[in-house]
Amino acid sequence: MTRLLSSPTHMPALSRIDPLTTLDVAMPAEPLYPAYLPVRPEGFTATLDVPAFDAEEPGLRADPELPDILSSKAALKNITPRVGTEIRSLQLSQLTPAGLDQVALLAAQRGVLVFRDQDFADIGPERQLAIAKHFGPLHKHPTMGYPQGTGPEFQVVYADETVGNLRDLLGERTNYDLWHVDQTFTPNTPGNAFFWVLEMPASGGGDTAFTSLTAAYKALSPTFREGLHHLKLLHTSASVGEIARVGQERALKEAVKTEHPLVISHPVTKEPVLFVNPTIARQVVGYKPSESDLLLGFLHDHIRSLDFSCRVSWEKGTVVVWDQRTVAHSAVPDFKDGERRHMVRIISYGSQPQPL
Ligand SMILES: [Fe+2]
Repeated sequence: MTRLLSSPTHMPALSRIDPLTTLDVAMPAEPLYPAYLPVRPEGFTATLDVPAFDAEEPGLRADPELPDILSSKAALKNITPRVGTEIRSLQLSQLTPAGLDQVALLAAQRGVLVFRDQDFADIGPERQLAIAKHFGPLHKHPTMGYPQGTGPEFQVVYADETVGNLRDLLGERTNYDLWHVDQTFTPNTPGNAFFWVLEMPASGGGDTAFTSLTAAYKALSPTFREGLHHLKLLHTSASVGEIARVGQERALKEAVKTEHPLVISHPVTKEPVLFVNPTIARQVVGYKPSESDLLLGFLHDHIRSLDFSCRVSWEKGTVVVWDQRTVAHSAVPDFKDGERRHMVRIISYGSQPQPL
């Protein structure tokens, strides 16, 4: 072997090595979790216009010392100083209600929590639903599929060789960033999201990216921030993704809309949040379109910075919990055409966003 390596004539020509093909891994012939394949009854379901309600914030009930998380044998590691914490050796499914409150508080503070080596995917839909419900009433998606025998509180994100993936849905683009906060077009907005993996693309990819909207706010000058404080954005369910999914006509016809302050006070941490949402809130209330496009163009570019963002790689057993008021997120649909990616999401509602 040594002789071979030392002899240039026996070394493979580097130009012939294509890492994209040499690292290919065969996809299992059948889905690993067939019970969680998405189904959807035939017929029309309008987007839910959930009226305003008083929501409890579980993070406000939490012991700020986080005893159930920090004093166990759990190992915590910040993904970056500004956003994201990875947690090992702690089972979400074993936490008491007080422990789940602490998860909500830590998610509010860190934006995104990446729980590794969880049994969550295998505890069954009833227990999954019960844990997510602890965080608040659950969002019901009007168009995404859910596992047979469950309901639209479960939202299955599924790609394979027949259904295609997000790239197919959005059509030809130079990139597929789709930064957003989920479903913010109602008076109460989503608080926490549970997102877990059932099967990852065999050849890799399919990460999820998160960016801190509190860190993005802090990076702005005090003078610029002041100019934002009195502004509101129009949030609409006729989002970029929903128009791609159901068509513009239907998306506009059933659009649910509301206005939220552009800068909000986080209901748990009380930190200012730059509450922009590039796919759902594309109009500054009272601005002419070109003024709105100019300001939001800058802010949407600003929040994408690597200064405030992180990228989460999924592994078998990973469950991600995030606070939708602290971070925005984007899928990274970079995986190979036709490969299977199977994820499930449940979102709870939090309170109504309040200005500073
Ligand atoms: Fe999302």
